[in-house]
Amino acid sequence: MGKVLVVFATRTGETERISNLIAEGIRMEGSEATVKNVKEVKSEADLKGYDGYVFGSATYHGDMMQGMKTMLFLAEKAGLENKVAGSFGAFGWSGEAPDRIFGTMENIFHMDMVSGPMRLKNSSLGGGVQMAQDYGKQIASKL
Ligand SMILES: Cc1cc2nc3c(=O)[nH]c(=O)nc-3n(C[C@H](O)[C@H](O)[C@H](O)COP(=O)(O)O)c2cc1C
Repeated sequence: MGKVLVVFATRTGETERISNLIAEGIRMEGSEATVKNVKEVKSEADLKGYDGYVFGSATYHGDMMQGMKTMLFLAEKAGLENKVAGSFGAFGWSGEAPDRIFGTMENIFHMDMVSGPMRLKNSSLGGGVQMAQDYGKQIASKL
């Protein structure tokens, strides 16, 4: 049991859909999940007070979206050491963003990472709903 913050960066809404499914999985395990658009995170204070963090961005031009980069600089000062963490994102073919976010959470913030990032081409195809919910469950069970 605990509180998890899920933050997403999206252009066309797919990464937002994934974040809501991850939140469902977290709640299925009996924990609390708060979902925020990265644009709502304006200071370190907005990141404080949670036991777990899941950050996601769609991949554009081989990279995460600018809003997520800006938020990761804020998060550097938010004292996230040893908090449970994971990353996710929608992608088309290469999907670099979730890996980059995961690497920053692990190597810079020194968080307690789940097994790896979660990438989905489309949350409604090929078991995507289940995969995203399972990722949320994985996060919650590590709290
Ligand atoms: C201009 C443009 C560039 C893109 N670049 C990449 C890319 O480098 N790698 C990749 O895997 N997907 C790329 N995509 C695909 C998006 O990641 C994919 O459509 C994703 O579902 C968008 O998620 P969103 O709805 O959360 O914005 C690109 C899409 C567009 C329109």
